[in-house]
Amino acid sequence: MAISVFPVFEDFAAEIGDLDLTQAQDEAVIDAVREAFARYAVLVIPGQNLSEADHLRFARWFGPLETTIGSFRDDTQLRTSDKIADVSNLDTHDAIWGADSRQRMFQLGNRLWHTDSSFRQVPARASALYARSIAPVGGQTEFADLRAAFDALPASRQAELRPLVARHSIFHSRAKLGFSNFSEAERQALPEVRQRLVRRLPENGRESLYLASHIGGVEGMDEAAAQALVDDLCAHATQRAFRYVHRWRQGDLVIWDNRCTMHRATPFEDLRWPRDMQRATIEDVGNTVDAN
Ligand code: OGA
Ligand code: MN
Repeated sequence: MAISVFPVFEDFAAEIGDLDLTQAQDEAVIDAVREAFARYAVLVIPGQNLSEADHLRFARWFGPLETTIGSFRDDTQLRTSDKIADVSNLDTHDAIWGADSRQRMFQLGNRLWHTDSSFRQVPARASALYARSIAPVGGQTEFADLRAAFDALPASRQAELRPLVARHSIFHSRAKLGFSNFSEAERQALPEVRQRLVRRLPENGRESLYLASHIGGVEGMDEAAAQALVDDLCAHATQRAFRYVHRWRQGDLVIWDNRCTMHRATPFEDLRWPRDMQRATIEDVGNTVDAN
């Protein structure tokens, strides 16, 4: 059966119907989902009931998977396999995390506009987040279309931005929240990386800003000027016209393109309600400075 596609905006965010990801799918269906993904950059696939294996099989339609950096926790035992990022507020025993837990502090970083794994040499191409359980209120995820944001800039500005290279680190975004008690070993495992500020998507030639709270500087600019530039671009890119807000239902699977969108979590009463989200993350093909 063919999938159905319900766009939210003309070229950004769409809901996909008639797709049961517990079942193996024909190549034609997989191609149709890939095609929708290339156009809309955020796909919502509701009403799923996925095992971890189903989730990973779907994610592999888009490329090889990342291994999670699941180490920033108080408990060392993961609730998931190492191909799944545990984005829940739960500990190993499925109890709600402590107010002072490291995991809570770390995940606060998701409240800042970001794109996943831009702090890795090879960043994430896409992320597929599955809602196993949700809070009754709050906890939406917002997405911003960085292709549309780039297109809306004056040509002269686009030309100035194209050659720029930013420095990304997970520790930059966490420092913005006052979270800095990382060990030397943790810091050394994730050194700062270089990424282009503007990138081109090979499937359709569209250009996109490539922004994240992980940015700590821009090469060739002093710190204050770089910060002002990045803040200005982020404010431009996240204005209402470029935004989709996802209000979760249990069983939603949402996949987004990290190359050309930013996202952020919105608050909920995380010490009261369990919110169990699991993320499979698909690797990009290389570092952005080597591409384009
Ligand atoms: C993520 C993320 C936001 C949310 O999983 O990468 O940023 O709302 N999640 O949980
Ligand atoms: Mn994220």
